[in-house]
Amino acid sequence: MNTKTSQVMIASDHAGIELKTYLQSRLSDIEWLDLGPQDLSSVDYPDYAQKLCKEVLQRPGSCGVLICGTGIGMSIAANKIKGIRAALVTNTEMAAMAKRHNNANVLCLGARITTQDQALACVQAWIEAEFEGDRHQRRLDKLES
Ligand code: RB5
Repeated sequence: MNTKTSQVMIASDHAGIELKTYLQSRLSDIEWLDLGPQDLSSVDYPDYAQKLCKEVLQRPGSCGVLICGTGIGMSIAANKIKGIRAALVTNTEMAAMAKRHNNANVLCLGARITTQDQALACVQAWIEAEFEGDRHQRRLDKLES
């Protein structure tokens, strides 16, 4: 995977911290920016969703991965932010489609839902897929209006 040129932000809550570490160690081709947390203390997922999404919006073309127990809280929090298209995925087909059709700039994963290897495959599929544009761009434009 040739992803060294692009930075991928990553953040979690306490439920996702182990998977966050795993993804960074297994996907070492990616230039990760780890936005925390760094220990297992209980934290609130909206704080980390907002932190990561703010960074993504400040760096055009960048993207991020958010992890909580189910991925649901992170996806709800992220999708409240204008300009963020967060996709909660549980398999590689969803992950690839999230980029191809939705140009998702944030991928959400549930550490208690997917195995570590499923999650890893999802990140790879999402990063390697390409947005198809055209009619899909028209639909994304409607999300921003
Ligand atoms: C934390 O226990 C859990 O609620 C959180 O990780 C997430 O699953 C929320 O959607």
